[in-house]
Amino acid sequence: MTVMLADGRPMPRLGLGTWPMDDEEARPAVTHAVSLGYRLIDTAASYGNERGVGAAVADAPVAREELFVTTKLRGSQHGYDAALRGFEESRARLGLDYVDLYLIHWPLPGRDLYADTWRAFVHLREQGLARSIGVSNFTPAQIERVADETGVWPAVNQVELHPGFPQRDVRAWHAEHDIVTESWSPLGAGRKLLDEPAVRDLAAAHGRTPAQVVLRWHAQLGAVPIPKSANPERMRQNFEVFDFSLSPEDMARLDTLDGAGRLGGDPDTHVEL
Ligand code: A2P
Repeated sequence: MTVMLADGRPMPRLGLGTWPMDDEEARPAVTHAVSLGYRLIDTAASYGNERGVGAAVADAPVAREELFVTTKLRGSQHGYDAALRGFEESRARLGLDYVDLYLIHWPLPGRDLYADTWRAFVHLREQGLARSIGVSNFTPAQIERVADETGVWPAVNQVELHPGFPQRDVRAWHAEHDIVTESWSPLGAGRKLLDEPAVRDLAAAHGRTPAQVVLRWHAQLGAVPIPKSANPERMRQNFEVFDFSLSPEDMARLDTLDGAGRLGGDPDTHVEL
């Protein structure tokens, strides 16, 4: 179960998010996820758990090529040379020869270094060290700028996305430009969203859990959700969302949850180091 990226590489349709796990928590969580069938693991330099993720990948009973490991550059390492160093540091912590997807974690427009940073990402892809490259939390205007300056489009934009903040315009724009939308906080960070009557009713109607209904919504939008859980039972249910479907009416009911707004940072103002 993969989506095809514009660069011709397949990406799993659902993955494990690892924030806010530390190394000690991430290692068994990733090991368990792989045993359940997860193949996409999402980490970041700023999460502080790349060593734990890498240890689990090294021990995994599946070939490295079957796994899809994503990591992200931290804000303090924007700029061409700093980004190349940041990548090498992540790669060393992960203990990997290559990463499958490398993302600029936040655009940090106040620093105005994301275009130079993207040039470094293009270089990393040319070297085969990052098989695919993308961005996270970028606006369409910011993506257009990096594409204009380098001629290379990000394959993925990982953004906050859940029924309370469905990002319709951004998703439509991504689709026009062949950019895969990856959803962070796909469950609305496990807060109010899973208790919404619309979600609970659909869960009851389908004999599923609220989280499965929400993750199925992502899958039917063509987005790649990366739910975080360190709990084995919740990890299991989060992965089992490809054997049922929501009807157009079900999807329309979930659309009524639009309006909760962002839970996390705004791409135009967020500062992350
Ligand atoms: P836990 O790790 O204890 O399972 P998001 O990925 O949207 O940021 O949401 C993550 C939050 O949602 C975590 O607090 C996680 O807690 C919780 N969570 C993950 N999966 C489920 C699930 N299937 N049902 C309820 N809560 C979940």
